[in-house]
Amino acid sequence: MKNILLTGGAGFIGSHLVKWLLNKYPYKVVNLDMLTYAGNLGNLQEVEQHPNYVFEKGDIGNAQLLDRIMEEHAITHVIHLAAESHVDRSIVDPLAFVQTNVLGTVQLLNACRRHWPAGTSDRLFYHVSTDEVYGSLPSAGYFVESTPYDPRSPYSASKAASDHFVRAYFHTYGLPVVLSNCSNNYGPYQFPEKLIPLMINNIKHGNPLPVYGQGLNIRDWLWVEDHCAAIDVILHGGKVGETYNIGGMNEWKNIDLVHLLCHTMDHKLGRKEGESAKLITYVKDRAGHDLRYAIDPGKLREHLGWSPSIDFETGLARTVDWYLDNEAWLEAVTSGAYLDYYQHQYAHR
Ligand code: NAD
Ligand code: TYD
Repeated sequence: MKNILLTGGAGFIGSHLVKWLLNKYPYKVVNLDMLTYAGNLGNLQEVEQHPNYVFEKGDIGNAQLLDRIMEEHAITHVIHLAAESHVDRSIVDPLAFVQTNVLGTVQLLNACRRHWPAGTSDRLFYHVSTDEVYGSLPSAGYFVESTPYDPRSPYSASKAASDHFVRAYFHTYGLPVVLSNCSNNYGPYQFPEKLIPLMINNIKHGNPLPVYGQGLNIRDWLWVEDHCAAIDVILHGGKVGETYNIGGMNEWKNIDLVHLLCHTMDHKLGRKEGESAKLITYVKDRAGHDLRYAIDPGKLREHLGWSPSIDFETGLARTVDWYLDNEAWLEAVTSGAYLDYYQHQYAHR
């Protein structure tokens, strides 16, 4: 039996993981989320009434709150996803990323130390991280678990710092930890500040599609539920103290991906082929824009038997269908504060 404290469960990946765990296991899942702009309880409607689900609204940086939750729910496992997660926002406000991603993670680690017996082997702190900590690859090569860290954005620097703290708590205090570093996720419920949902929303409304620089940057894309499946196998079979890289072996140049989305949506919206692609607009590049991320997930495949379950065209079509079918969700998250964000980020590009 596990009593899991899952942080950031109202966000994109967290909400999929909450549902994944509740649907598959009898564990108690306590979702601690501050409900920033990226957190949305609408993502969790189908499990709201689940008897093993508890929602706690609050900040991972609040030590008293953490003490109360650890004790009241007899937490045995932490799966830590809460974070500020968008690179462009980190360029505008790096301190918000230090606050949650670095200080918040250390607060959580401290709470585990306070509440778990020293030397315990039936507790686990699972830290969910990103491949962006490894920096930027040239056109060849892959990130492996031993690739030296070389973060280049405030976001990736803050995630790298948090990874280092998690490992430091393992080595210094013997806290049982495991880490994974994953490539770019996509799927339903992703906030439309990230490339794929932002482009879907703009294509739908016939708005310009802002491609940074020349659109030549490369990302490796993974279906969000395949990330959940990987977290599941690592949670249950991962070796304490180890790191596992998770990736889709699915690299796309941004411009090719945007063209694929345009093509898919022309078809789904009954537009003439090529109509949506006319919206593509090259805009000023992101500062310090990493050229390429690519993961070698060999360790995870060989040690724990994980591999991605669906191909990109299928996942992307499912994603587009979800956004088109869930107009109310999309409208709700793109009104109000989103319009200010969009204006601020894109007006001067
Ligand atoms: P997200 O931005 O969609 O969600 C983050 C969630 O954390 C939100 O619900 C937000 O309300 C919550 N949160 C933020 N600050 C908090 C705080 N101080 N206290 C409590 N809750 C807080 O992020 P996501 O894309 O779902 O990413 C989740 C995790 O996975 C992050 O740690 C991210 O670094 C990592 N990751 C994401 C990707 C990706 O492609 N999205 C890839 C690899 C790793
Ligand atoms: P993003 O989804 O922000 O993820 P990350 O930067 O963490 O990889 O961006 C993915 C890629 O798409 C990245 O190379 C930046 C690019 N991009 C655009 O070209 N236009 C946009 O409007 C956004 C949000 C991203």
